[in-house]
Amino acid sequence: MSQVERLEAEAREAIDNAGTREELVQVRARFLGRKGSVAAILRGIGELPAAERGPVGAAANEAKQKIESWVAERRAALEASGRAADLAEHRLDVTLPGAAPPPGRLHPVTRVFRDVIAFFASMGFAVQDGPEVETDWNNFGALNFPDDHPARDIQDTFFVEGGTVLRTHTSPVQIRTMTGRTPPFRFIAPGRVYRHDSDATHTPMFHQIEGFMVDDRTTLGDLKGILHAFARHMFGPDTELRFRGHYFPFTEPSAEMDFSYRGGWMEWGGCGMIHPEVLRNCGIDPERHQGWAFGMGIDRTAMDRFGVPDLRLMFEGDVRLLEQI
Ligand code: DAH
Repeated sequence: MSQVERLEAEAREAIDNAGTREELVQVRARFLGRKGSVAAILRGIGELPAAERGPVGAAANEAKQKIESWVAERRAALEASGRAADLAEHRLDVTLPGAAPPPGRLHPVTRVFRDVIAFFASMGFAVQDGPEVETDWNNFGALNFPDDHPARDIQDTFFVEGGTVLRTHTSPVQIRTMTGRTPPFRFIAPGRVYRHDSDATHTPMFHQIEGFMVDDRTTLGDLKGILHAFARHMFGPDTELRFRGHYFPFTEPSAEMDFSYRGGWMEWGGCGMIHPEVLRNCGIDPERHQGWAFGMGIDRTAMDRFGVPDLRLMFEGDVRLLEQI
């Protein structure tokens, strides 16, 4: 009996002294494991005088339960103090100001696009998107480029597999927008275009804005008026526009326009009355409907507005460019 009492006392002390959960697991095994002290006592019962066997067995079992509950208590205490230590160590002051990420900035092209969209939205134009990989029909055929004509080469086309191309201009958005719909239309289409071209003043990818309007009475006069207003919005209230006769397969008549710039003229883009064949290709009757279109690059405008000296800087993705504007 005294052996059981001694064992309980020892266990109590060992349990109280266990400083970690791992130590506690070992202490428990030492007393309650299959080869532990309690098991040893129980195994030895057979050698005791018959009268002692019952009381010693009962005392040993009781000791087992006590030790088990002390272990459980100690484990709970260790866990609680562990959590407290953790919390103390990883103390988080939620009132500290956060580390602010550097603010992002919009690319100059995005800013000019947004400005252009806002201007045309104020005149009732909607924005239309188109894919950058385009069918030959939308990019050329429907726009009245002849099949066997080197016209397709004049735009330095990147050909993609399956007869598709990287669109060489935003004009195919006219085709996508008009086909299967009935006028009136008033749309602009900003986007990326691609040409096989690369030097200080040309990048293989650049940006254009297309604009077009179709109804049953709009005229070249409307086109000129709107482009004037647009030019003045973009380049200042004193800006003049000049139209020069030109050729595009998808407009007739066609013109190139220049805007007044530092005492001279700056080429701006192309425009014209949409060719009847283009309307027909979109299922629109040119006897009933007519319209005009224009298209221009906007990268130069963005460079000029934000003082970017080299076109290639615009597309290198160097954030230092954005940080400066
Ligand atoms: N798509 C022509 C180009 O990229 C620009 C253009 C000219 C668009 C005349 C038009 C237009 O809509 O009417 O060179």
